[in-house]
Amino acid sequence: MREMFLRWFNRRKPAQAEQTPELQAEDSQDEIIQLSGRTKERWVKPVIGATILQLADQNKVDWYSNCRRGTCARCRSKVIEGMEYLSAPNEAETARLEPEEIEQGYRLGCQVKVEKIGPLKVKHAPYF
Ligand code: FES
Repeated sequence: MREMFLRWFNRRKPAQAEQTPELQAEDSQDEIIQLSGRTKERWVKPVIGATILQLADQNKVDWYSNCRRGTCARCRSKVIEGMEYLSAPNEAETARLEPEEIEQGYRLGCQVKVEKIGPLKVKHAPYF
């Protein structure tokens, strides 16, 4: 019975459900990512492979989050500029967001990652 529970529980944990690691931005890099949280707005340095939520956490920008695995959508974000520097929508995002939302630039902050260095503007945009 315990093994059945553990198998079920481990299937529920997607790879993206992780705590915010210590992010290492290049010191020489300019602050070219604008994050607009619930009440704070801040320019931050890009970190390749970091999610928008990790960057917000690291830089103390107030961004709602709950599950951190792509199911609750509390971290829903609107990419205003620079979508080309971000990862493509992953399975969790395409399952949680409507195709129209993705077309309009909405992403899940806990899933979308910085893939290339470039100017970005991202605004926290939860449903409520
Ligand atoms: S924190 Fe739940 S979907 Fe991102």
